[in-house]
Amino acid sequence: MQKNKVTVIGLGYVGLPLAIAIAKNKKYKVYGLDTDRKKVELINQKKAPFKEESIRENIKKVKIKCSDNQETIEDSEYIIVCVPTPVKDNKTPNLNPIKSASRTVAKYLEKGQKVIIESTINPGVCEEVILPILEKSGLKGGKDFTLSHCPERINPGDQKWNVSNIPRNIGSLSQKGNKIVANFYRSFLKAEINEVSSLKVAEATKVIENTFRDINIAYVNELAKSFDLMEIDLPEVIQAASNKPFAFMPHFPSCGVGGHCIPVDPYYLINKAKKVGFDHGFLRKAREVNNSMPSYTVKLLEKELKKINKSLKNSKVGLFGLAYKAGVSDLRESPALEIEKILKKKKAKVKSFDPFIPEKSDVKSLNKLLEYSDFIIIATNHKQFQKITSQTLQKNKIKIVIDGKNCLNKRAIQKANIIYKGIGH
Ligand SMILES: NC(=O)c1ccc[n+]([C@@H]2O[C@H](COP(=O)([O-])OP(=O)(O)OC[C@H]3O[C@@H](n4cnc5c(N)ncnc54)[C@H](O)[C@@H]3O)[C@@H](O)[C@H]2O)c1
Repeated sequence: MQKNKVTVIGLGYVGLPLAIAIAKNKKYKVYGLDTDRKKVELINQKKAPFKEESIRENIKKVKIKCSDNQETIEDSEYIIVCVPTPVKDNKTPNLNPIKSASRTVAKYLEKGQKVIIESTINPGVCEEVILPILEKSGLKGGKDFTLSHCPERINPGDQKWNVSNIPRNIGSLSQKGNKIVANFYRSFLKAEINEVSSLKVAEATKVIENTFRDINIAYVNELAKSFDLMEIDLPEVIQAASNKPFAFMPHFPSCGVGGHCIPVDPYYLINKAKKVGFDHGFLRKAREVNNSMPSYTVKLLEKELKKINKSLKNSKVGLFGLAYKAGVSDLRESPALEIEKILKKKKAKVKSFDPFIPEKSDVKSLNKLLEYSDFIIIATNHKQFQKITSQTLQKNKIKIVIDGKNCLNKRAIQKANIIYKGIGH
């Protein structure tokens, strides 16, 4: 085993920033293993494989040797697994990537190695799924090697909170192993590293964080639906409620919840609880509410069209944004894609534009989409879209704006005699 050799498995939104953060400490020799050959080539050319400003800059400054050859992990002192943990079509956990990565680790497992899982998993996955695969090597977890879980909390596109300054929680098979792995993280991160008592606690921590978000967003999304009928402006209500100095945390309604975490992780907990005989009805309901928001957004447009004696069929609808959130090119679980699907099913003539994903956009620029559209839906609050003024809308003869992110100036647009409808706004 080579001391201070680190291999990160899975160099995506989580693995790559982590590999860069470790490589900044020159003490470590950092390797990357990824099944995506194109990604491997780009990283070896010091090019960011996805649009993220900090990656684009920092990848040039560090040395990471990347490969799609499993042998890369041989002799590593630390192996960190950052592969995806999606759900299947039936909304049950798809553990295939993590099982496959664990089999790769098992093949090269040696005494003294530290295996760390950063991927988001439900309580029990480390001990019930990963450990048995690793122990097929003949080595014993907690004695011959360390198994730890250090859930990642990174928020892609966030200028303030990044891999280096977000506090971490770490749980391991043994307390001794936990201390070693916690000290490893302390050697390259500035943030607080909190040692928790077990793998299960670490696993549960991450899942409840994202479930908390999902539930709170579902609450305001449901409020948006009832407040729309009562004609109460929900964002204004939330702002007002926010001056309570304790026990209120603002969440805002929108056209849906996307990304690889919030709309996915609650299903891991729901399914685990089901296996032990508990029905998380509340969490299922939250998922249901948030999943309903793209169709609710389209219904808002249909309602406004009806008022002017029009329907979606053959209407020229501009879809502004495809990514699941502002400032990123990530399409995973994006509500915009669901909105697009519904619009097409209803035979609207929909065209899209996303400055971060030009290859998936129907038109080449924001102006082209404005020129094309009679009606628009804002599905992502990219900075470029937030700058759309009532004058621009007027100039392009836009008749209805459905603001799925409540990010445009409602009053100015209405003053310009353009129909405006936000989500609960
Ligand atoms: N994206 C986020 O904002 C975020 C934040 C916190 C936690 N997480 C969690 O981190 C994990 C990774 O998410 P991500 O967004 O980085 O995913 P990603 O898809 O961006 O990256 C995962 C990488 O793993 C590679 N891969 C898949 N299977 C592999 C295998 N068997 N061996 C080697 N490489 C393999 C893929 O090619 C890909 O490059 C997930 O569990 C996710 O829930 C993600």
